[in-house]
Amino acid sequence: MNSLSLICIIGLSGIAIVQSACDWGWKEYNGKCYYIQAPSVQSWDYARTTCQAKGGDLVVINNQAENDFLRRKLISSGGHWIGLTDAESEGTFVWVDTTFARTGGKDLLYTNWQDGEPNQLGEEDCITMSTGGWNDEDCSTSDNGYICEKTSLTASTPSA
Ligand code: BGC
Ligand code: CA
Repeated sequence: MNSLSLICIIGLSGIAIVQSACDWGWKEYNGKCYYIQAPSVQSWDYARTTCQAKGGDLVVINNQAENDFLRRKLISSGGHWIGLTDAESEGTFVWVDTTFARTGGKDLLYTNWQDGEPNQLGEEDCITMSTGGWNDEDCSTSDNGYICEKTSLTASTPSA
């Protein structure tokens, strides 16, 4: 299913083939491809299933540079589901790649919480990012977008 995007440009000197390392509609950054769905869609589970069906998963944000890249790409200031949840154990936030972002109230890895978050208002176990930072929200809230991530395709030279 790894369909490379091919754009053929026919010019006077012949045919040049430009290959993108990401599928159509995905944005490339630092060896990864990102698919950003603006609000609104459905639950965190729905968003995750959709990302997996596209060959990726909800995004794991590892550092400030990656967060900055994604933030610049957001068209909407609303929430976008990311691959972080504490549904298994309250207060222990685990990324979909099983790395721990936070446990026991302490950040173990890069985080970008909005002021006052995560606050578990009622029952909030799934994380969104917006232009303002990260927030824990009700996993079944249906007015968020989502961000998928997958490894970029290795560009190969097409045979003539
Ligand atoms: C959201 C919470 C958030 C709060 C911040 C609420 O509308 O559902 O997740 O923590 O706003 O004030
Ligand atoms: Ca919250």
